[in-house]
Amino acid sequence: MEVRATADTVEHLGPLALAARDAGATIPVVVDVDMGWRPPLAPEALVLGVRRSPLWEPSRVVALAREVQRTRGLRFAGLLAYEAQLAGLGDRDRHGRAVPTHVLVKALSRPQVRARRRAVCEALVAAGLVPALVNGGGTGSLSYSARDPSVTEVTVGSALLGGTLFDGMTDLAPEPALYFALEVTRAPAEALVTCLGGGYIASGAAGPDRLPSPTLPEGLSLLAREGAGEVQTPLKVRAGLRLLPGDPVFFRHAKSGELAERFASYLLVRGDQVVERVPTYRGEGWCFL
Ligand SMILES: Cc1ncc(COP(=O)(O)O)c(C=O)c1O
Repeated sequence: MEVRATADTVEHLGPLALAARDAGATIPVVVDVDMGWRPPLAPEALVLGVRRSPLWEPSRVVALAREVQRTRGLRFAGLLAYEAQLAGLGDRDRHGRAVPTHVLVKALSRPQVRARRRAVCEALVAAGLVPALVNGGGTGSLSYSARDPSVTEVTVGSALLGGTLFDGMTDLAPEPALYFALEVTRAPAEALVTCLGGGYIASGAAGPDRLPSPTLPEGLSLLAREGAGEVQTPLKVRAGLRLLPGDPVFFRHAKSGELAERFASYLLVRGDQVVERVPTYRGEGWCFL
């Protein structure tokens, strides 16, 4: 396995070069290209994307790749060209309704992403800096990026666990594979139960779509005014469903990684059997971000 570092500015290169010197190794460096959508006539006026790298013009990517190549202990290894606005925006909301702004952003982005990747690769090749690796893709853009001739590898994360934010993807709709259970502890009214804990909110622009969803048994919903709380999560219960203190309610999270910060282990289930318990990175004592 080869571990590579990512850079988008010369300031990143100094510490990497020091690390390479200390380790007596050469570090392969991948240059991160901003793949956000920009209005063609005013590209600095608006960016719809993840806002990580300042590099989107081919000439600036080439300049940094050249600097990498010139730095002792570093080697230019390719491009990270992740089109988050395609990978992470659902075409439909949690009620199955089309989200016209998302559909529009994605339609505008597809040709621009492809053209920018091609232009950056061509500029690098012309400068004698052939990118051995061009990474693209995320769950919502897997098949799109896999068809882009500039891309040499695609990445998916969320598809493995299938959080609710990815239910509305038309490119790839992953099967839900991660649930957490909360215990019913109280019943404040006839049609309500309250579970212990549950405020596991997904990151990103905060809104109802970042809340966990009560999934099993069917017929439960969050209260709009309460959401999911650190200490308690009240749920509206449909008529005919009876839950008692001690009963479990199974929820889905909106994303993937964050539950691994909350729980020390995951139970792996096949059919109706728990076949293994594996530690999360919290369980292994790590705290990355
Ligand atoms: C660079 C990069 N590639 C791929 C992914 C994976 O995306 P997804 O979780 O949508 O599959 C991410 C997620 O943040 C990312 O930052």
